[in-house]
Amino acid sequence: MSDERLIVALDFNKFSDVKNLINELGDDVVFYKVGMELFYSEGEKVVYWLKEQNKKVFLDLKLCDIPNTVAGGLCSLMKLGADILNVHAVGGFEMMEAGILSLRAESERLQIPCPKLIAITVLTSMDQSDWDGLGYGNIDMTQQALHLAKLAQFAGLDGVVSSPQEAKAIRQECGKDFLIVTPGIRPIGSDIDDQSRVSLPSYAIENGSNYLVVGRPIRSAENPLQAARNILEEIKNVGNV
Ligand code: C5P
Repeated sequence: MSDERLIVALDFNKFSDVKNLINELGDDVVFYKVGMELFYSEGEKVVYWLKEQNKKVFLDLKLCDIPNTVAGGLCSLMKLGADILNVHAVGGFEMMEAGILSLRAESERLQIPCPKLIAITVLTSMDQSDWDGLGYGNIDMTQQALHLAKLAQFAGLDGVVSSPQEAKAIRQECGKDFLIVTPGIRPIGSDIDDQSRVSLPSYAIENGSNYLVVGRPIRSAENPLQAARNILEEIKNVGNV
C-alpha cells in the first residue's frame, strides 16, 4: 500500500542508514525528504540514488539569501532531479519570484522537468513565545503564516510548508491547487521531540495538507515499516477540506 502523501524525512548523516531505511520501508513509501544534515554530509549522490530507486525527492534545503543568489542556487539544485525544492518565505517576494522564474526558464532551456517550489512559512518547532522573541512586534504567529503563504502564492510559488494547525486557513485563502506540506506530524503515542505545533496525520489531511512530512515517528520506531503503515492506514480514507 503506497500513498504519495506520506513523505519520510531522511534525517541521517550516513548513506548506509538511508539505504537501510529505504530497504526496510520498501514499496510502501515512495516519497522521501533529504534535508541539510544528509545533504551536507553525503551530498548529491543521495538524491541521484533515490531517483534511481524510483523514489520522489523533496530536497529540503530552505534557501534564504538575496534574490540572485537564491535563483542561482535553485537552478543548480534543479539539475539533481528533485521533485520539490524550497525557500524561506521571509526572504521576501522578490527572492521567491526570482527563484521560481529562474527555475522555469532554466528548465525550459535545459529541457528538464521543473521541480515544484514551495516556501517555509513559520517553522513547526516555533511556539508563540519563540515567535514573540523574534521581535516582529504584536503579530500573531498564525496570521503571519497565512500572510507568508499568500505572499508565496502571489510570487508564483507552488505551495508552502506550514504547521498542520495553519493548513485549514491557508487552504481556504489560497485555494485547492496550492500545495500544503505539513511537518510536525505526531501519531498517537509518539514523542513531540523539538516540535511545537504538532497534529495527528488524519487531522493534517482533513485540514488541507497534501503531504505529511514524518521523521522521528517512523525513523525512531521499533518497527519503522509498521509505523509507516499505521500512518498510511490512518489517512487511507481521509480527504482534504
Ligand atoms: O522528526 P520530525 O517528524 O519532527 O521531522 C520533521 C522534518 O521536517 C525535519 O526534517 C524538519 O527539518 C522538517 N521541517 C519541519 N518544520 C518545517 C520545515 C521542515 O519540521 N517548518
